[in-house]
Amino acid sequence: MVETGTNQTEINPHPEADATARGKKVFIKTYGCQMNVYDSTRMTDALAPEGYAETTKLEEADLVILNTCHIREKAAEKVYSEIGRIRKIRDARGADAKVMKIGVAGCVAQAEGEEIMRRAPVVDLVFGPQSYHRLPGLLKQVEAGHSVVETEFPEEDKFKHLPAAKPAVTRARGFTAFLTVQEGCDKFCTFCVVPYTRGAEVSRPVADIVAEARALVAAGVKEITLLGQNVNAYHGKAADGSSQGLGRLLQELAVIDGLARLRYTTSHPRDMDESLIAAHRDIACVMPYLHLPIQSGSDRMLAAMNRRHTRRDYVELIGKIRAARPDLALSGDFIVGFPGETEADFEDTLSLIREIGYAQAYSFKYSPRPGTPAAGHDEQVPEDVKSARLQRLQALLNDQQIAFNASKVGSTMEILLERKGREPGQLGGRSPWLQPVHVMASDQLIGTLQPVRITGITKFSLSAELIASPNASAA
Ligand code: SAH
Ligand code: SF4
Ligand code: F3S
Repeated sequence: MVETGTNQTEINPHPEADATARGKKVFIKTYGCQMNVYDSTRMTDALAPEGYAETTKLEEADLVILNTCHIREKAAEKVYSEIGRIRKIRDARGADAKVMKIGVAGCVAQAEGEEIMRRAPVVDLVFGPQSYHRLPGLLKQVEAGHSVVETEFPEEDKFKHLPAAKPAVTRARGFTAFLTVQEGCDKFCTFCVVPYTRGAEVSRPVADIVAEARALVAAGVKEITLLGQNVNAYHGKAADGSSQGLGRLLQELAVIDGLARLRYTTSHPRDMDESLIAAHRDIACVMPYLHLPIQSGSDRMLAAMNRRHTRRDYVELIGKIRAARPDLALSGDFIVGFPGETEADFEDTLSLIREIGYAQAYSFKYSPRPGTPAAGHDEQVPEDVKSARLQRLQALLNDQQIAFNASKVGSTMEILLERKGREPGQLGGRSPWLQPVHVMASDQLIGTLQPVRITGITKFSLSAELIASPNASAA
């Protein structure tokens, strides 16, 4: 990511300065969802006053943290092969090897706890998402020679480490930023580990979120994506003590001077209330893009998944949202091969996708997760059937994505130029609909919004040309 050069906030203006002074280095590898990305930045910021600077070179790290994901079996298994690789690099340091400490954080840490140490004794520290604010203290125990496992689940403690009205993330890393507003999930879809790894739903108070957003914008951020495992279930405490939903929160953030774009993810269809739908109509900086997973188009599967809504509920909801914001691009998640899924159920998913029309979507083969109700189901779908269904589903989704991208060719839009592109003289950014866009433009325009005309599409991105405007050369 691009450094802003003005990465200061009231909390810790120069964290990297004291880190380099004491010369320790931390390498963090992040797996899984955007919340893990956000959490990794929180960990780096929490470690800076302890003398740790971030490094992208594993070989030189004094501390390696794997911030892991448990959502599917493959995601969890990757962690163990990565630990093996790190061990080799550590051992290659010879007598110096002991200096490198290895920590496992995130959802695998929460789900597997001590088991990680048993399978990989080289690991020094295992800590779950609820204990990141205790990281400096945990490290002291590790440095004193202890192996530490910290997977306690103190609900009320979840956001305690964030002093009121002080930002949690103390440095901006570019022109777009994530901001966690809600964590955890009470929905218990029968396939999903998140309620177990992230715990019950907790929302941060409005004032804390506004303060963090202001700090990010002051540091140069133009676009903020609000995060939550169930972000639209947000119900944070407002200044008057009342509980406030995501629609109201978006209103409060939209008035921050210099904040050009707001997004939020991931939403659940049951929590799309009227005020949030109205926010898509009324607030210009709320981008016309919504990630609203349904998982399956079959009511039988939706019931078995405990989604607690029907296909019809979803279709009607999308109708309402599109009436409020006609140019809205929709994204979703789909699972194929959930236990008991028949060919007819799967066809229902394909027909739902045709009915809705997605601009972009993620799709997965069902992966049984230990401890979740569906894992014990005796009608597991064979792997080859899952693979064949996934292929058919992805072919349809790809066609829709390409058609959506192609529909933008010839149109004009404003894009946020975020970074240098792959080719010399090229910059990369995103459209309001989250499409990657490439344009030939001067580096000085990085971090600005520019009007462009879309000239063509490559597979999943757009190419564009700048529309000369009076401010086109302003940085
Ligand atoms: N909170 C979000 C999603 C969290 S996980 C939501 O409710 O939409 C992201 C996606 O991973 C899910 O939407 C689902 O499609 C997929 N997923 C979750 N558990 C899975 C499993 N056991 N097997 C396959 N895919 C899964
Ligand atoms: Fe998992 Fe369902 Fe909660 Fe999403 S809503 S995090 S899929 S349990
Ligand atoms: Fe994975 Fe945990 Fe996110 S399981 S998807 S890292 S909440």
